[in-house]
Amino acid sequence: MTSLGIGLIGTGYMGKCHALAWNAVAAVFGDVERPRLAVLAEASQELAERKARELGFARATGDWRSLVTDPAVDVVSITTPNAFHPEMAIAALEAGKHVWCEKPMATKLADAERMLAAARASAKVAALGYNYIQNPIIRLIQRLLDEGQIGTVNHVRLEMDEDFMADPEQLFYWKSEATSGHGALDDFGVHALSLIWVLFGGVRRVCGHMAKPYADRPVKDGGRRAVETYDIATTLIELDNGASGVIALNRSAWGRKGRIFMQLFGSKGSIVYDQERMNEVQLYTADGPPESQGYRTILASPHHAPYDKFIPAPGHGLGFNDLKIVECRELIRRIEGERAHLIAFEDGIRIERTVDAIARSAHDGAWVDVTAGG
Ligand SMILES: NC(=O)c1ccc[n+]([C@@H]2O[C@H](COP(=O)([O-])OP(=O)(O)OC[C@H]3O[C@@H](n4cnc5c(N)ncnc54)[C@H](O)[C@@H]3O)[C@@H](O)[C@H]2O)c1
Repeated sequence: MTSLGIGLIGTGYMGKCHALAWNAVAAVFGDVERPRLAVLAEASQELAERKARELGFARATGDWRSLVTDPAVDVVSITTPNAFHPEMAIAALEAGKHVWCEKPMATKLADAERMLAAARASAKVAALGYNYIQNPIIRLIQRLLDEGQIGTVNHVRLEMDEDFMADPEQLFYWKSEATSGHGALDDFGVHALSLIWVLFGGVRRVCGHMAKPYADRPVKDGGRRAVETYDIATTLIELDNGASGVIALNRSAWGRKGRIFMQLFGSKGSIVYDQERMNEVQLYTADGPPESQGYRTILASPHHAPYDKFIPAPGHGLGFNDLKIVECRELIRRIEGERAHLIAFEDGIRIERTVDAIARSAHDGAWVDVTAGG
């Protein structure tokens, strides 16, 4: 396959993460053509030029529309704030480009459905940034479940907590604006649901509650502005496979830095995982003499593909940005027409429909069925 031409829109937290992945994917995996870092777009020409130099892109533009139609671009990485995703992804797909769009797919279900329609019409690859599912330890958990090591899973508990919005005096920014979506649900809930999706499949019905820990936040030029999003969301869920579950999300949780705490309880054991300790998993199997039963820790190692592509030594650990490199390799696999471990718009829409159902449930104070859609 000839080398892919890359267009990157946005260079903040996730933009840098995508750029590192595009820079590293050929070196790490050794089995793909090195992508051509063709064009980078930012909010201004000046910023775009500075970032293009730093991140290794050949050209820079302050106009993302020119990037998505640029003949040198085959794949568009969209790493801008949530509200931009539908417009940018649809424009890129209509221009015949593959898309790698950060989560959430959109802030409104109707927009996500339009994105799905554009992906179907284009027949291009349209993938979402759900990097946590790429952790070799999550793939190990998948294997342990498939092997029946903990029997039939009957209860799933997922907590995602960070404290980047815990300070009530932190300045108001785009994540507190309604244009960014519901709040913790789009920010964190979609990640939790991505893990549920790859491990168990869909969610059948939900009963949600959303809360605002702070009514307003200071604005840069003085005064305060009312917070429009919900930093906390708690949801009871029932999975398609009948298991019960809880998803608890809080982006104002002092002390929690990158917590995705997952407990899976089955008929023969349980599994515990925490993203803050992303290179290990705890496995409990109810066998052997009771006096020696207990959780055992399995550390990530070259036995857990694709850890071996990064490091030959066990227990040395991958990091957050490495998951994006793995996701990038999976995206290239899908573009090459191979099976890939990836959440594309076709599956991502189920996550969006679940988020929408949770928000409606929280509003109505009642259980809501997640629609299967078309
Ligand atoms: N997958 C993950 O683990 C993960 C983690 C964090 C954020 N995200 C997602 O990534 C997206 C971006 O979040 P972030 O934290 O990187 O935000 P950020 O604020 O750090 O970066 C956004 C970037 O977009 C640029 N931008 C804004 N308007 C633009 C325009 N019109 N044209 C070009 N560039 C423009 C900004 O200048 C900035 O560089 C969000 O959708 C967020 O949900 C995903």
